[in-house]
Amino acid sequence: MARIFQIEKKCPQTKARTGFLFTRRGIIETPVFMPVGTQASVKSLTPEDVSGLGARIILANTYHLFLRPGHELIARLGGLHCFMNWPRSILTDSGGFQVFSLAKLCKIEEDGARFQSHLNGQEYLLTPELSMEIQAGLDSDIRMVLDTCIPYPCPYEEAKRLTELTHRWEERSRLAWQKNHRESLLFGITQGGMFEDLRRYSAKVITSLDFHGYAIGGLSVGEPHDLMLKMLEASIEELPEGKPRYLMGVGTPHDILEAVSRGVDMFDCVLPTRNARRGTLYTSFGKISIKQARYKDDDRPIDPECQCYTCRNYSRAYLRHLFMAGELLVYRLNTIHNLHFYLCFMERIRNAIRKGHFEEFKKHYYERKEEVEC
Ligand code: GUN
Ligand code: ZN
Repeated sequence: MARIFQIEKKCPQTKARTGFLFTRRGIIETPVFMPVGTQASVKSLTPEDVSGLGARIILANTYHLFLRPGHELIARLGGLHCFMNWPRSILTDSGGFQVFSLAKLCKIEEDGARFQSHLNGQEYLLTPELSMEIQAGLDSDIRMVLDTCIPYPCPYEEAKRLTELTHRWEERSRLAWQKNHRESLLFGITQGGMFEDLRRYSAKVITSLDFHGYAIGGLSVGEPHDLMLKMLEASIEELPEGKPRYLMGVGTPHDILEAVSRGVDMFDCVLPTRNARRGTLYTSFGKISIKQARYKDDDRPIDPECQCYTCRNYSRAYLRHLFMAGELLVYRLNTIHNLHFYLCFMERIRNAIRKGHFEEFKKHYYERKEEVEC
């Protein structure tokens, strides 16, 4: 497979690294955070807002776009980039995870996942071949294999069965991708539940299938933080050094920092965007809830250190007012701030690794987090 990832600099004390991921729609600096645009929209923002914040890649969901408006319609209209007016890279998740978390009924069969749409109850069978066909219709730049989601907790034998079924689905995904890939990249996903030997086994099998990149799936599903890190470490130890690693659905700034230290290059998570819509905002001194009465007369920006459009132009008092009044503008302003926070956080991580200061950066970050909310 063509070389699509180049490591730029490694941290001498941890496993953190910076690199470049090459897609047909541009170069992505890693470690990277991918804003979530589930239904072909990063909720409340225009694509110009999202690119203005510095995002080079976003994530979209096969499951949602298959059900509505349908990948065939999007393909007829020129693919997802054209449809949503986003010219930069798009990664599509395969739909496996969303079927398990959103569909009304979900039954795992050898051939695929049988489920009922959460929209109208219609029954479908999502197979590895169908997932690749949908992702081809969307014409995404990075495509994910179809995997199963292992619940937490899950007994060993069941976790093993689902992990092995995932391996068969991934092999079929790879064969199907070869028929319709059109210059896209294909990432495998390692599973293994919360068992270290299954994590290693899965990472080895998936590595042998030779993908462009490797995701670590099935984490941050309710397990304790330490267990997540242990499973992450076991998976990464068996993955090739020279390919990108993507920790799916993670996480908080703290999770990201710990995962970068362990060698993860890519992240996606709904936290910054979802929290923004609920009034929870990230700052250099911790999270704040803009609903609180203490911000009623507060003429300071959300974070005096933040350079985002929202912080340059609006006060906490105004944002609180918008939130309490249910004004739609607050979703956009809060989302701009939270995504800026995440994207800026990743940039600072990359710069710290490049300058050889990543350990100090981490220490400094944790020290600041001890401070109280204001
Ligand atoms: N998003 C978060 N976790 C997962 C996972 O395990 N698999 C897939 N496909 N998507 C995810
Ligand atoms: Zn801001």
